[in-house]
Amino acid sequence: MIDARNLTKSFGTVAAVHDVSLSVGPAQIYALLGPNGAGKSTTINMLTTLLTPDSGTLHINGHDSVRNPDAVRRIIGVTFQDLVLDRDLTGRECLEYAGRLYNLDAPLRRQRMSDVLELVELGSAADRLTGTYSGGMKRRLELARCLMMEPMVLFLDEPTQGLDPQHRAQIWQYIKDLRSQNGMTVLLTTHAMDEAEELADTVGIIDNGAMVQEGTPEALIRTLGSAYIRINATFPDAYIPGFGGAEWVTMIDTQPGVLTIGVLHGARQMTTIIEHLTRDGIDIVDISMTRPSLGDVFLQVTGRALRDEGAVR
Ligand SMILES: Nc1ncnc2c1ncn2[C@@H]1O[C@H](COP(=O)(O)OP(=O)(O)OP(=O)(O)O)[C@@H](O)[C@H]1O
Ligand SMILES: [Mg+2]
Repeated sequence: MIDARNLTKSFGTVAAVHDVSLSVGPAQIYALLGPNGAGKSTTINMLTTLLTPDSGTLHINGHDSVRNPDAVRRIIGVTFQDLVLDRDLTGRECLEYAGRLYNLDAPLRRQRMSDVLELVELGSAADRLTGTYSGGMKRRLELARCLMMEPMVLFLDEPTQGLDPQHRAQIWQYIKDLRSQNGMTVLLTTHAMDEAEELADTVGIIDNGAMVQEGTPEALIRTLGSAYIRINATFPDAYIPGFGGAEWVTMIDTQPGVLTIGVLHGARQMTTIIEHLTRDGIDIVDISMTRPSLGDVFLQVTGRALRDEGAVR
């Protein structure tokens, strides 16, 4: 449904997206992850025909997005990172207006409007001006507006940004239902690891405009081995334990007071690690073992934790 090859886009001297390829099959959910400024919105804007790539090819359900953007626009839906609702219209009027733009006839428009308003639980607020909506209500209305056209392919740029946990979970449920009931293909961007783990069949991690890792969440997590062992202690400056280069070590991260070691076989290597550290005269305060998460993969490939604004792990 989505086939993007070697997409590149620069703004002046900023290479926002460089040689990014991705493909998404029917009824698949693909999550594009990346830190602020990585190129996620620029990628989505190309995928939805709003920006023309400098180079590369792009097809949506076989239609060439550059040569035939109208055909693509007819089958996609998109919600943007920045909310674009008209404050002077009521929720219902926003949907009515969108339905008319898309040439839905009156009975179909009424039916779909009532369906989507119910879906996003905005029925009781439908006749209020959107200027009076909370951030979460606006986001849900935008999603409703986009779902009203029953697109084949749905692009969501940060669909749950600013939503409370309850509404995030609800949006996740809609997305999953749309895929299973309507066979909709979804590409979304997110900062939230739990969102990607919950929804995505495939995750692409993008950093500095380039795709740095791609795969199923499980496969990506597996690359980090079976476990993470975290040790709290006072370490000498620039301490690297002697087993640092061993084949069973998948990664080592040293932070003041915390040493994190990715290992292939958790419990077995815990004792080896303790022996080594004790021999080096390190006084272990605390030791714990966890399964690596997608957040750890992200940290490994981008060198950054997603703890900047809006980040949820
Ligand atoms: N219209 C533009 N003009 C100039 N630079 C731009 C433009 N749009 C994006 N950029 C730059 O391209 C890079 C990628 O931006 P983009 O918005 O795609 O990132 P993002 O991954 O969506 O970030 P965020 O997580 O903050 O939404 C950034 O360096 C940004 O400043
Ligand atoms: Mg963005």
